[in-house]
Amino acid sequence: MDKPKEIEEILITEKRIERRIIELGKTISKDYKSKNLLLVSILKGSIIFLSDLLRNLNLSCDIDFMSVSSYGKQAESSGIVRMIMDLKEDIYDKNVIIIEDIVDTGLTVSYLMKNLSLRKPGSLKICALLDKPSNRKIKINLDYVGFTVPNKFVVGYGLDYNGKFRNLPYVGVLKIYNVKN
Ligand code: IMP
Repeated sequence: MDKPKEIEEILITEKRIERRIIELGKTISKDYKSKNLLLVSILKGSIIFLSDLLRNLNLSCDIDFMSVSSYGKQAESSGIVRMIMDLKEDIYDKNVIIIEDIVDTGLTVSYLMKNLSLRKPGSLKICALLDKPSNRKIKINLDYVGFTVPNKFVVGYGLDYNGKFRNLPYVGVLKIYNVKN
């Protein structure tokens, strides 16, 4: 696919993502050896990451989905997290890993950790493809991280801007002020 004009630069290539996910898959498979695992994918941004990570896990695991919203149509966090869709299954006593596309302010993941820990899972960890630590508003401990990114708005590999660019196979920086809605 040609690079859209709205993409300033390719930050993380398809190949680098592929290699990193193989490594993450190995680490998680080792950490959860002979345990049951439930991956909780946060819609919609994490679906491509989830599907690639899932195929690199060498253990028995299930998936479930949750949808929350902290961003409207703007590229800045509103600071308010809303539950849009809850999990289908009970997570009591299960080993859960939250699968996120990117942790920016940390407000979404902090809300998810609080919300899910009330349901008494056996264990609860976070795996984020991207970590943007420079914009953090709340201290968060990320258990598994794919890449650390600078404080720029990134899209592709599941991440969007106004519902666009999710299908790019790489992570790219958006020329944000040039994009017309
Ligand atoms: P947080 O609550 O500020 O950590 O934001 C988490 C959510 O904001 C992510 O799951 C994304 O949906 C969205 N987000 C934050 N930064 C970016 C970005 O650079 N590109 C696309 N989405 C982002």
